[in-house]
Amino acid sequence: MAKTHPEDLDWNKLGFKYHDLPYRWVDEFKDGKWQGGHLTQDSSITFNEAAEELHYGQEVFEGLKAYRRKDGGINLFRPEQNAKRMANSAKRLLMEPYPEDEFIKAVKEVVKANQDFVPPYGSGGTLYIRPFMMGMQPIVGVSPSETYQFRIYATPVGAYIKGLKPMPYEVSDYDRAAPAGTGQAKTAGNYASSLMPSLIAKKNGFADALYLDPKEHKYIDEFGGANFFGITKDGQFQTPKSDSILPSITKHSILKIAEELGLNPIETKIPIDDVDRFVEAGAMGTAAVISPVGSLTYQGKKHAFGDETKVGPITQKLYDTLFGIQVGDLEDKYNWIVKLN
Ligand code: PLP
Ligand code: COI
Repeated sequence: MAKTHPEDLDWNKLGFKYHDLPYRWVDEFKDGKWQGGHLTQDSSITFNEAAEELHYGQEVFEGLKAYRRKDGGINLFRPEQNAKRMANSAKRLLMEPYPEDEFIKAVKEVVKANQDFVPPYGSGGTLYIRPFMMGMQPIVGVSPSETYQFRIYATPVGAYIKGLKPMPYEVSDYDRAAPAGTGQAKTAGNYASSLMPSLIAKKNGFADALYLDPKEHKYIDEFGGANFFGITKDGQFQTPKSDSILPSITKHSILKIAEELGLNPIETKIPIDDVDRFVEAGAMGTAAVISPVGSLTYQGKKHAFGDETKVGPITQKLYDTLFGIQVGDLEDKYNWIVKLN
């Protein structure tokens, strides 16, 4: 694949796409230990045809971003949380966790090596960083690999959904994860199972699918790539409490911000039958940032949240505060930012 050059990119119109940047990180686990990683220019991976990850899906990944500040420096947002979550995902899949301090060091190395690709301040773009790990051992029976490869690539991105324009979503009849399954882990299989429901929702004219809890199909779980929130008529921030959703780093940050804004935030079960309690709603995640949800269609009935043509004031405030902290325009009260330079 041809390498991308910074002059090839229109920073204001990036979309959410892969670009083959000059450098990525690679490390290998074999003979019972990580070998010590390094940067490489090679974006290809060679597998044996029987490699564990190809057949039995022993793969976990992460997503975080690097942000260009007004002064030209670069911020990372809570990378230690991604390191921790990746270790938890790895444990759930019986994989060898990557040491958390090495993870952070490697993220920094990848961003520094590709720093010309961190989009300019004000463009709305960011550098998306994708750490991932996979079982490499050739295995025919279903059992965990004894060898792993850990990698981190990066790619400049713009908005994942449509920026701050409210979009319609459809409540899916499918599940992305099983009760007591792998919903809390960031593993490939959860995303593979979301491909068809997502395509169906898009064919039906929606931005994406929203999943219900897989046990009772009564409560809101999450989107395929983001957690859900709603703002009640009396101004409370609510987000689903569930064992089958990904513990979102954005959500945990927004819960703090919402507290500070006096929104009395709670994590609670949200019955889909009572979704009209919300006057604003949104999706939150690293890729999604805060993406307003204009309506949810459930069993053919559309539930709109306030004026679905305009982003609501609380959603806007949450976005401005979160993104303001991430790009360094607002004070970093909680020590979330790791400055690269
Ligand atoms: N839920 C799912 C299924 C996701 O893929 C993501 C994205 O990582 C999120 C939620 C949001 O998590 P975070 O805020 O840590 O990016
Ligand atoms: C992220 O937000 O980092 C994700 O992994 C979501 C993915 C659907 C792009």
